Amino acid sequence: MTSYKELGLVNSKELFDKAIKGGYAIPAFNFNNMEQMQAIIQACVETHSPVILQVSSGARKYANQTILRYMAQGAVEYAKELGYSVPIVLHLDHGDTFELCKSCIEYGFSSVMIDGSSHSYNENVELTAKVVEYAHKYDVTVEGELGVLAGVEDEVQAEHHTYTQPEEVEDFVSKTGVDSLAISIGTSHGANKFKPEQCTRDANGVLVPPPLRFDILEKIEKRIPGFPIVLHGSSSVPQDQVAIINKYGGCMKDAIGIPEEQLRRAASSAVCKINIDSDGRIAMTAAVREVLATKPAEFDPRKYLGPARDNLKTLYIHKIINVLGSVNKG
Ligand code: G3H
Ligand code: 13P
Ligand code: ZN
Repeated sequence: MTSYKELGLVNSKELFDKAIKGGYAIPAFNFNNMEQMQAIIQACVETHSPVILQVSSGARKYANQTILRYMAQGAVEYAKELGYSVPIVLHLDHGDTFELCKSCIEYGFSSVMIDGSSHSYNENVELTAKVVEYAHKYDVTVEGELGVLAGVEDEVQAEHHTYTQPEEVEDFVSKTGVDSLAISIGTSHGANKFKPEQCTRDANGVLVPPPLRFDILEKIEKRIPGFPIVLHGSSSVPQDQVAIINKYGGCMKDAIGIPEEQLRRAASSAVCKINIDSDGRIAMTAAVREVLATKPAEFDPRKYLGPARDNLKTLYIHKIINVLGSVNKG
């Protein structure tokens, strides 16, 4: 058993308390490899922002959970070396079983998500409460989920959103003891969050997706005032980056994300954690494609992964300052 405290990590409790009071959200960025981790830490150190490093089941399979744990430990030391020790949470994203959450806690994670949203309400309560009981023994914070996002959540695919029912949140939070709650108000995972026919066009012909259900968020906030809310599926799918991908041989069609102003509005409410993965993937791919297409003789991975890391860092700094509002909150 390795405690996250020995690794220099923190849980999310205090960060969320401050974020709610301060009207901003903590960035939760997924990572699978060294370049992503470095870009996240460089961006957070430069902006003095706290950060949640997220590891999905897919990331664990890809990179190995021991390596990821040492990378998070390395991230703590790397931040110090860069000159500013930002608070870093190591969080399991979309944990689907008690055993997985337990294993991550034993490996040094400071926070876990138990996503029971594909189960019945009662099964979700039972599973989440079991994880909370175990996690809290080790001062590890737990995120639960109510409602189902449209799109793919790990292996679970949902055609339509099942919005979170505000009537359920008090009961869920009190029966499970969770520290934060992910809700479904119209965001979804991936780069194709809306079909063009669901969108309208603004004066410049740019597609505008339907707004998030702030009415549901407000009802939830009224029922559990001051309780930390989490938004998954919050990539905005930057169109300049999509254009670079498509210019240099990629094929991303009808890629539409959540407008940044809406996320900013959410961040100023009880939403205190915003999950962003796809935008990072897009920024990395755009930079790699550009180098490989414009410098075809290049074969040193550092020559395309380096620019990818720089592009990612620029993206994260932009998110921290303009979307999350977590600049100088570390
Ligand atoms: O919520 C999903 C995250 O974007 C992680 O995606 O399972 O492909 O690593 P992944
Ligand atoms: P995006 O696919 O919108 O980046 O969402 C990521 C996420 O919710 C990770 O849990
Ligand atoms: Zn998610």
